[in-house]
Amino acid sequence: MIISLIGFMGSGKSSVGRRLADLLSFPFIDLDAEIEIRAGMSITAIFSAYGEPAFRKMEYETLSSVLAVGQDMVIATGGGTPVNPESAGMLRERTVCVYLSASENQLSEILSVLDNSNRPMLKKHTVGELMRARVPIYENTAHISVNLSDYTDGVPDDSAFDRIAGDIVAYLGEEKRVPGN
Ligand code: S3P
Repeated sequence: MIISLIGFMGSGKSSVGRRLADLLSFPFIDLDAEIEIRAGMSITAIFSAYGEPAFRKMEYETLSSVLAVGQDMVIATGGGTPVNPESAGMLRERTVCVYLSASENQLSEILSVLDNSNRPMLKKHTVGELMRARVPIYENTAHISVNLSDYTDGVPDDSAFDRIAGDIVAYLGEEKRVPGN
């Protein structure tokens, strides 16, 4: 089974993904880290040298080659991965796709305490602007949604991430048929 995590920047995709991978004994792949390794450049450097459309293409190509491995794994995507319809299609068809959703207020609070120096999209757009365009895409791409506000009102801590990962594993175990399986 391949589990992918989608959601806005700061929603906890990597934190939950690592825990999920541990619980399931699956390898964990962070798509942004894979892109940086392949490009030999940081996300910020890729955006400033080549721009967003080129980044989305690299993101699609990296996702495609990670999925081609075809074995059990957990993938944390970037916040804009499903914005490319081809990437969204692959996530929906070839993975069990989990959307970590949160309100604009909660995400703004979370992002205010994170280091966003490697998040070039936030230099050009507001959280609200990006969310209006993206939330429908996240909802249409995912098979399962988890709302952060069910776990904490503010910035999630380790225990919130542990509980989210535990609930996803329990849900997947209870489902007789999970998509992509
Ligand atoms: C992006 C989110 C980032 C990274 C890149 C673009 C976006 O990932 O892929 O900066 O468009 O939302 P995180 O969601 O892990 O910050």
